[in-house]
Amino acid sequence: FKIPEITNEPMKSYAPGSPERKALQDAIAEMEKELPFEVPCIVNGKPVKTGKLAKQPLPWDHANHLCTYHEADQAAVAAAIDGALAAKAEWEALPWSDRAAIFLKAADLVSGKYRYKLMAATILGQGKNAWQAEIDAAAELTDFLRFGVKYVEELYAVQPPRNSAGSWNRVEYRALEGFVFAVSPFNFTAIGGNLSAAPILVGNTVVWKPSPAATYSNYLIYKIFEEAGLPAGVLQFVPGPPAEVVAQVISHPEFAALHFTGSTFVFKKLWKDIAANIDNYKGYPRIVGETGGKNFHLIHPSAEVKNAVLQSVRGAFEYQGQKCSALSRLYVPSSLWSNGFKEQLLTETAKLKVGPAHDFTNFIGPVIGRPAYDKIIGYINKAKEAGGEVLIGGTGDDSKGYYIQPTVILTKDPKSVTMVEEIFGPVLTVYVYEDADFEKTAQLIDSSTAYALTGSIFSTDRKALIQATNILRNAAGNVYYNEKCTGAVVGQQPFGGARASGTNDKAGSMAIFYRFVSARSIKENF
Ligand code: ALA
Repeated sequence: FKIPEITNEPMKSYAPGSPERKALQDAIAEMEKELPFEVPCIVNGKPVKTGKLAKQPLPWDHANHLCTYHEADQAAVAAAIDGALAAKAEWEALPWSDRAAIFLKAADLVSGKYRYKLMAATILGQGKNAWQAEIDAAAELTDFLRFGVKYVEELYAVQPPRNSAGSWNRVEYRALEGFVFAVSPFNFTAIGGNLSAAPILVGNTVVWKPSPAATYSNYLIYKIFEEAGLPAGVLQFVPGPPAEVVAQVISHPEFAALHFTGSTFVFKKLWKDIAANIDNYKGYPRIVGETGGKNFHLIHPSAEVKNAVLQSVRGAFEYQGQKCSALSRLYVPSSLWSNGFKEQLLTETAKLKVGPAHDFTNFIGPVIGRPAYDKIIGYINKAKEAGGEVLIGGTGDDSKGYYIQPTVILTKDPKSVTMVEEIFGPVLTVYVYEDADFEKTAQLIDSSTAYALTGSIFSTDRKALIQATNILRNAAGNVYYNEKCTGAVVGQQPFGGARASGTNDKAGSMAIFYRFVSARSIKENF
């Protein structure tokens, strides 16, 4: 069999009066009426209520919560690992066409029947506005599943190009021996789906610890996979408490791989913990991680100002800057800065309305929670203390939800704290360089942070684009010309970076699937 041609899920407009706007508003209203939900762990396909209760608060109304969930205890985690190991042989032996069919069906359920429910959970629980939720929980998740099936089909077709007389060689792509551990973040609902689905597609079984701040949307994904036909035990859903679950899972001798998206700090800690356990494992675990970023826009003196400004505002402030890919350092030549760039940047930023994300007139929703709020405000204060000038924003309001005004800081020091450290909030720091220093500025971008995730170069002069691209060879895994540095599309811009930003295994491409198979060569003599 052959998977049909696959295209990206078309994005809906949610324009006033559109049927999708009404459907989404209805789904949000219904969810608001019914919350809070109760979410169990799911072990071997059965709900497990440990009674160790935790809450996923509403970021726009922190006195209330979207769900109460049962945290996995030691017994639940142990049963989940045993169950994943027990389910593996049958899952891996299932014909590829059956595994593919389950995920093609899951993609249809995400794109159709559950689109608005998943989006509502993302909007209410994670604070995304409708358009950001559409990009993520509807389009990207659907794409991850459909393109994932396509990539695995292509991977299985990769075979040695030569045989010798009287023999035939083939490569069998086995699932890894043991189980895979998926640890997913709050900021993209789709990532939770992909971190678990990608290893499963190639025959692995997975223990999945979602982010506490995305428990409900991630639970809905589990239920969609189940409805699509995923057999019990193939995916084990074990929410919270992060440190305990992680420590227990990675100390298991059959731990075969980590599929992680989250902070650089946590990823490094996990890597060290895995290293400390290395003598206990059957094999060398695969470690796949996508972590932080300190993403840049470099504006060349030839750039088209209006476009550069609009792209910068969107790159920095969409989803409150809580994308690993978000723009956070902006390098502008002085000739443009004083000739309209500054004024337009402030005018466009001032237009962004802040408030609950389920009110469709708001562009900026709440940040995810108390620690995030405090950290972001802390960075703004540190920037001020270091002589940074807050041009707009700089304040927050945490009385009901965790709101922070979109903030632009001007610095004279390109190595000041908000130019080099990841903030993960709606804070953009600008450094103005002398026009003649374009090349030097590209070198500065390359050398001033530990990260290398995304970056954009704005110029109408192709020579400048190429010059900067060459200097910034290792400074970003995703580079854009004349467009913002967020919004990679599955199948079009494989996503991920190197240095402190991750192992660059490229979600949304075939590369990621290689990490979750162990190839066996078989030579047969006739
Ligand atoms: N893949 C997401 C983006 O590119 C994070 O914005």
